[in-house]
Amino acid sequence: MATGAWPVAAVTLVLLLCSSIPKSESQQEYVNNKQLNCSNHDTNATSGNLCNSVPSCISYLTFKSSPDYNSPVSISYLLNSNTTVTAAANNITDVQSIPVDTLITIPINCSCSGLYYQHNASYTIKIQGETYFLIANNTYQSLTTCQALMAQNTYGERDLVAGLNLNVPLRCACPTQKQSEAGFKYLLTYLVSKGETVSSIAEIFGVDQQSILEANELSNPSIYYFTPISVPLKTEPPTNLLRAAAPPNDSPSPPPPAAEGDSDSSKKWVIIGIVVGVVVLLLVCAALFFFCFYRQRRVQSPSPTPPAKAFSGPTHKQSEEMTLPTTQSWSLSSEGIRYAIESLSVYKFDELQKATGFFSEENKIKGSVYRASFKGDYAAVKILKGDVSGEINILKRINHFNIIRLSGFCVHKGDTYLVYEFAENDSLENWLHSVNKKYENSVSLSWVQRVHIAHDVADALNYLHNYTNPPHVHKNLKSGNVLLDGNFRAKVSNFGLARTVEGEGDEGGFQLTRHVVGTQGYMSPEYIENGLITPKMDVFAFGVVLLELLSGREAVGGSKNGAGEQMLSVTVNQVLEGDNVKEKLRGFMDPNLRDEYPLELAYSMAELAKRCVARDLNARPQISEVFMTLSKVQSSTMDWDPSDELERSRSVSQISDSR
Ligand SMILES: *[C@@H]1O[C@H](CO)[C@@H](O)[C@H](O)[C@H]1NC(C)=O
Ligand SMILES: *[C@@H]1O[C@H](CO)[C@@H](O)[C@H](O)[C@H]1NC(C)=O
Ligand SMILES: *[C@@H]1O[C@H](CO)[C@@H](O)[C@H](O)[C@H]1NC(C)=O
Ligand SMILES: *[C@@H]1O[C@H](CO)[C@@H](O)[C@H](O)[C@H]1NC(C)=O
Ligand SMILES: *[C@@H]1O[C@H](CO)[C@@H](O)[C@H](O)[C@H]1NC(C)=O
Ligand SMILES: *[C@@H]1O[C@H](CO)[C@@H](O)[C@H](O)[C@H]1NC(C)=O
Ligand SMILES: *[C@@H]1O[C@H](CO)[C@@H](O)[C@H](O)[C@H]1NC(C)=O
Repeated sequence: MATGAWPVAAVTLVLLLCSSIPKSESQQEYVNNKQLNCSNHDTNATSGNLCNSVPSCISYLTFKSSPDYNSPVSISYLLNSNTTVTAAANNITDVQSIPVDTLITIPINCSCSGLYYQHNASYTIKIQGETYFLIANNTYQSLTTCQALMAQNTYGERDLVAGLNLNVPLRCACPTQKQSEAGFKYLLTYLVSKGETVSSIAEIFGVDQQSILEANELSNPSIYYFTPISVPLKTEPPTNLLRAAAPPNDSPSPPPPAAEGDSDSSKKWVIIGIVVGVVVLLLVCAALFFFCFYRQRRVQSPSPTPPAKAFSGPTHKQSEEMTLPTTQSWSLSSEGIRYAIESLSVYKFDELQKATGFFSEENKIKGSVYRASFKGDYAAVKILKGDVSGEINILKRINHFNIIRLSGFCVHKGDTYLVYEFAENDSLENWLHSVNKKYENSVSLSWVQRVHIAHDVADALNYLHNYTNPPHVHKNLKSGNVLLDGNFRAKVSNFGLARTVEGEGDEGGFQLTRHVVGTQGYMSPEYIENGLITPKMDVFAFGVVLLELLSGREAVGGSKNGAGEQMLSVTVNQVLEGDNVKEKLRGFMDPNLRDEYPLELAYSMAELAKRCVARDLNARPQISEVFMTLSKVQSSTMDWDPSDELERSRSVSQISDSR
């Protein structure tokens, strides 16, 4: 007896020691129900899938269409996926609405971040009272867990206020070596619905039940609904996954195990598994006995890994002392939030109807743009037909004071409703050209305001051309697309034609198009003639806007003696050529300025505008140079003041008097 006891004790000891060995090739441990208790951080299962040796891969998520997220555009927005790719994976169009409760698949890029595989999304809290649990379980349909959210966001549960922007790590995984060897290429994160079993899920995807059990480290096929489960796939998931999912749950009781599976065969597997497992473990443990201590030390050394932060939220009573750091980081981040445009709101159609008075005539601003009031805050709502994911994708990445801010959108019956920041003072066009009688009796823009506006627009273009990645060309700049806020600061709007230009060379890239669209008077010659798209076409259009600001004339106008149309970009050359240039410039300037402007600065601006509208695009300055010149004009203008000028001449005369 005593001789037999020693080996048994040794085996037990080895097993105990090795139970803590990180299983580097292991797949996700199924969450069971542990994601329901947000203060339970005991296991990796709730934090995510442990990484294996593959750094990144394509993976798939599933999502059930909901009232707020019911089109590829809005779902891709929520999950940070590519709209085009998502629509294609389900054989539908970008803006097609998907009936509520329909399951769709979303291809995503999955990568290893710290210990876990994840796909990053971001979410802006919409209403007061949203909790990490509600965001994980209800909004993200268990594609993430409250534990993982807490680990990757510094805010405590009590700090969650509307407008706050959260990082959302979505669970995904890459195949292990073993799975790859068995021919599996992808892992799909599947949302278990009521009544589903491992075998019914296996059937949907045409894989065998055992591979799902193994991928989730499940020893028995008992699963819970509203939990994510990994499904290994040998091919891309079918495009016709779209199907009516289980009917909406009427019983809000805590989810019971969804199924028991056929327990006989699973018992057999369990026994075989245990026998094989023990033998393998014994061999492996002996070999790794030394290695496991080495590895654990290595795993611990990079301290700022997500699990370390897991306990920082003040939701946990035991961590009250962590409140200070949490509030500090909150106030730091709240600075960033004001400018964080990365996350848009997804509006419900009835919210927009209410805010615009059912798109009433009196709320109509222009064309298909309506004024909306959300709890007293104004916004502009623009209705667009068809696919506008391009404009959404551009604007959601762009974040600049002088570019109109897109705050959210809504997709309804194939139309997209974009919700923008509201510009109280309408467009520059309305202020400059008396044709639009709207402001005839009100004061005209002052010189100082015009200089600020020019500087603002140049600032926005400089950002688009040189500070976005990839660079963008607006393609449709005109005074009608320059909006003015309550302080007459300019906001460039209408990115419907904007596109990216990627390329080599210091001129930036260029593209050719056969589809020339734009507004007469603003389009550059090379664009009209050859469809050439470069940042220099924006410089040309900017030159025209500058000329409108100086002269108050329209881009294309009737000439004084009624001799047909005259382009402002042509007129400027006549003004600035020959003799008496300054006198001719006085005659060109907007009479509404009533001579209250410094002629020298007006001349510099006119010269700059003339260079911007040069026929040869290589003769036009880069927008960065334009911006720098206008910065100088602006600071000189700040020193200039009509009354100052009077003062100065008076003091000069006093000095001469006293002599
Ligand atoms: C999660 O896994 C890592 C590496 O395998 C291990 O070091 C860590 O202790 C695990 N954490 C929990 C809470 O189980
Ligand atoms: C949640 O998990 C924590 C930590 O594991 C535990 O102390 C607590 O009792 C759990 N709560 C419930 C309701 O199970
Ligand atoms: C989305 O995918 C399409 C096709 O793969 C690609 O052309 C497009 O650039 C992608 N969009 C973004 C925003 O990555
Ligand atoms: C996609 O849908 C169209 C009809 O909308 C159908 O004709 C086509 O066969 C579908 N393609 C696939 C791959 O299912
Ligand atoms: C993954 O990323 C690459 C490049 O970053 C992109 O081209 C591809 O479309 C992405 N795939 C998906 C499914 O989003
Ligand atoms: C995802 O977010 C985490 C921080 O939460 C970051 O460390 C990681 O690099 C991000 N991954 C990607 C692919 O951007
Ligand atoms: C989790 O979310 C689902 C909807 O996705 C909801 O039906 C269920 O009641 C939620 N669970 C809990 C515990 O709130």
